[in-house]
Amino acid sequence: MKKLAILTLLAVTFFVAACEKDNTTGSYTPNCDGTAKSYATDVAPLISSYCSGCHSEYSTYAKLSASAGKVRRVIVDGSMPQGTTLSTAQKDAIVCWIDNGALNN
Ligand code: HEC
Repeated sequence: MKKLAILTLLAVTFFVAACEKDNTTGSYTPNCDGTAKSYATDVAPLISSYCSGCHSEYSTYAKLSASAGKVRRVIVDGSMPQGTTLSTAQKDAIVCWIDNGALNN
């Protein structure tokens, strides 16, 4: 009986771990070697296409830059955008802009 309980616990642990893994890409590493990214040219159009439908709170420079740390985290871990994914180049545009100081450029 004790053995069964331990096996069940192990199975549940693996199941939960597998589900958590599905939610993230896990393998993304930013590459910021290229030209510096611009809010107006690179970042705002991506936020407008991929985020603003669900998050009006990121639709202006002032609001987005105030939440830059959170936004960076969810893009790097792959949990956002929900329902779709960004290409590596698109992730780089947002993450590298933030890492360069989230300038209003
Ligand atoms: C289809 C709707 C949808 C889209 C598109 C979407 N989000 Fe989200 N987002 C949500 C929901 C719902 C939550 C809250 C629930 C959760 O955390 O899963 C959330 C949570 C977040 C959070 C966490 C907020 C906190 O306080 O911790 C951040 C940051 C975020 N989203 C950023 C983004 C960014 C950046 C994009 C675009 C690249 C994006 N989201 C696209 C629906 C969406």
